[in-house]
Amino acid sequence: MKVKEALSRSILELKKAKVEGPISSAHVLMADVLGVRKEEVLVSSERVLSGLELKKLKNYIDQRKNHKSVWHIVGRVSFWGLDFFVSSDVLVPRPETEILVQEALGAISNFEFRISNSNQKSETKNQKSKISILDVGTGSGTIAIALASESPEIKLTAVDKSPKAIKVAQKNAKYNKIKNIKFIESDLFSSVKGRFDIICANLPYIPSEEIGLLPVEVCCYEPHLALDGGSKGLEIYEKFLSGVGKYLKPEGFVFCEIGINQGKKIKKMIKKYLPGFRCIIKRDLAEIDRVAIILKS
Ligand SMILES: C[S@@+](CC[C@H](N)C(=O)[O-])C[C@H]1O[C@@H](n2cnc3c(N)ncnc32)[C@H](O)[C@@H]1O
Repeated sequence: MKVKEALSRSILELKKAKVEGPISSAHVLMADVLGVRKEEVLVSSERVLSGLELKKLKNYIDQRKNHKSVWHIVGRVSFWGLDFFVSSDVLVPRPETEILVQEALGAISNFEFRISNSNQKSETKNQKSKISILDVGTGSGTIAIALASESPEIKLTAVDKSPKAIKVAQKNAKYNKIKNIKFIESDLFSSVKGRFDIICANLPYIPSEEIGLLPVEVCCYEPHLALDGGSKGLEIYEKFLSGVGKYLKPEGFVFCEIGINQGKKIKKMIKKYLPGFRCIIKRDLAEIDRVAIILKS
């Protein structure tokens, strides 16, 4: 069977199974079978699939018909232009999280500027290695690895409560040739030592009562430890914010990914737990509260 015929058949099957994004799903899965990029599938439309390739495609389409996400099926996803392995032990990184990475990179530049202003140029490179970053709830390692890929001199620590997620993150760091991250299993700050210039967190923020309303791809295939933020969604962030002050350097920054209508509630918590700090809420393209930036007033 030719690629174009197998594609139309797959799309039809996915449509019948009422899968979200049947065309795009079929293209991603076919690309993996062919070992090409999604954009290159159409160029191969006249190619004849081997028996093995057809078997693999059928297996993929069957999984997608059960609403498993394409990323969990192929086991890989792109984030910040890098490839990440994902499994049922980790959340699939979302494109919105790149906003947090972008903001944190701004803070790194801010520190670099301060350092280069206070030092001889020859010392600047060495001084950069003094910038320290903590990523709490690292999951597959996305935020820490993206930052490390941009700033290989910086010292990063990445923690997660899930030992299985830590294993995935370590595999991703190795695959992306990242050497400057220390991965630690830790319930928030329980195994963290020292103070950091920048603390990033993408902790669970979905209210427990809403998890069952999420698409099957999310609620049935992603770990609830990565999603469930407790009653009203901000229980874990409240614990995080009540403790983060002890781990932040006086001029440090905190970046938290949050969700819909959570900006105001986070601001209230910052007033309570981090006096002397202020908070800016950054929204995403859909105008949803997405990143809380916490910095000295
Ligand atoms: C929303 S996922 C984010 C994963 C990753 N940072 C990303 O952006 O793709 C939340 C992560 O926080 C971790 N987590 C949940 N509760 C935690 C806790 N108390 N301490 C540390 N990590 C926790 C979960 O295991 C999960 O990997």
